[in-house]
Amino acid sequence: MVSLVDVKRSAATLFAQGQHLAALRLYDAIVAAAPLDFDARIRVADCALAMGDANAAKVYRAVGWYCLKSGHPLPALVCARVLEAHGADASDLTAAFVVNYGSESELLGKLATRVVLPADGLAITVPDVRQPAAADTVSVALARAEHATQQFKDFPESVHPVPLLSGMSEAALRRVLGTLLLRRVPADSYVIREGEPGNSFFFVAGGRLRVFATDGLGRQTDLAELGEGAVFGEMALLSAQPRSASVGCLTEVDLLEVGRQSLASLADELGPVAEALHGFTRERLLGNLMATSPLFKPFNRMQQRDLLRRFTSHDVAPGTVVIHEGEEGRGLFVVLAGELDVSRRTSDGTTVPLGGLKTGDVFGEMALLRNARTTATVVAQRTATVLFLAREYVERIVAAVPEIKKYLEALAEDREIDNQLVLGEDETPADERVLI
Ligand code: CMP
Repeated sequence: MVSLVDVKRSAATLFAQGQHLAALRLYDAIVAAAPLDFDARIRVADCALAMGDANAAKVYRAVGWYCLKSGHPLPALVCARVLEAHGADASDLTAAFVVNYGSESELLGKLATRVVLPADGLAITVPDVRQPAAADTVSVALARAEHATQQFKDFPESVHPVPLLSGMSEAALRRVLGTLLLRRVPADSYVIREGEPGNSFFFVAGGRLRVFATDGLGRQTDLAELGEGAVFGEMALLSAQPRSASVGCLTEVDLLEVGRQSLASLADELGPVAEALHGFTRERLLGNLMATSPLFKPFNRMQQRDLLRRFTSHDVAPGTVVIHEGEEGRGLFVVLAGELDVSRRTSDGTTVPLGGLKTGDVFGEMALLRNARTTATVVAQRTATVLFLAREYVERIVAAVPEIKKYLEALAEDREIDNQLVLGEDETPADERVLI
């Protein structure tokens, strides 16, 4: 006996190696033991299709309908897309998706449930795939996958809405469904790499993914794990900034991709969609800030939330001056999104760029710590969101939490040294400077 999750892993490896019959035998063993595992049923059809068996179409259609009724609409779209890719008609599945999960559906409700997938740890009896398979293995597996839930009656009366899609009008939803691209990604591959440009966002239809950030030293911080129904990749699309994190597949993953162009074709619907996407982005940016910023490190989750509530949030247009050189230090700023430029005016009146600030960077600390006037100007280079914490509160935290004081002091010192190097104000004789 092997756990369901391990059988799937082995089957996925066999499939990736082109051993489709062996993979099919393992997925079929799962369907036999756990008929509600619609993912294994889809994979049986994938294996049969890879072996050229046209009967796979019946399985995709049957599983698609089961998924729609059991509260798993995105895998139903996967089935529809595969059918269409092979020249079959799947308009019945798409139409049912619109009726059942569109904004006018009476099935969507607060008391929604979905039929859950069998547990990962479920024990499965697996065949020895090194032994020859019976002649009718494929047809038996296809029949089992097609009819696995034929007797199943316990469908929910009310289903969960699909993020974003269920908020659209039916006409818009139909248009979007027509543009969704199915991407089937093997385990252990990347979907998104941090720093790359982003032109699309994704719905997770199946499988699990890991979201992580990498710092300058190559250390990774886990930000989230995503599964069926999650949305990701929206941040770069909305902000026109590089990807803020990497997203890799922990298992085989089915994604439905929405490109920039299909978003543009939805111009009339864009308001609510963009608003919903902005909501995801904001929550995630705040979560990431708390997970990665040294400013939040000394605190537990509740304290972090409490500290965050003391900040005010400000969206600033490109060119907005956030700090004027020479003014009193008003408080501490944190870049939630966007980029800002830092510069200083020299005695001869020229403006010297000192550097840039990006997501997660803290600024405004120098004047606060030294109780002096600000020594540089900070201007938004592009649209940015900055969080602001008033001076009195910063002073209280600095006095109460030594780690924060140390962090801000080290930051201010490093920046001062960098600035002196840029401005050529270093007092140390040149031959005594150590530049590492
Ligand atoms: P984007 O920056 O385009 O590419 C990486 C994606 O990771 C990002 O969009 C978000 O969709 C996703 N992401 C970043 N942080 C989190 C988080 N804390 N939780 C879930 N998803 C995240």
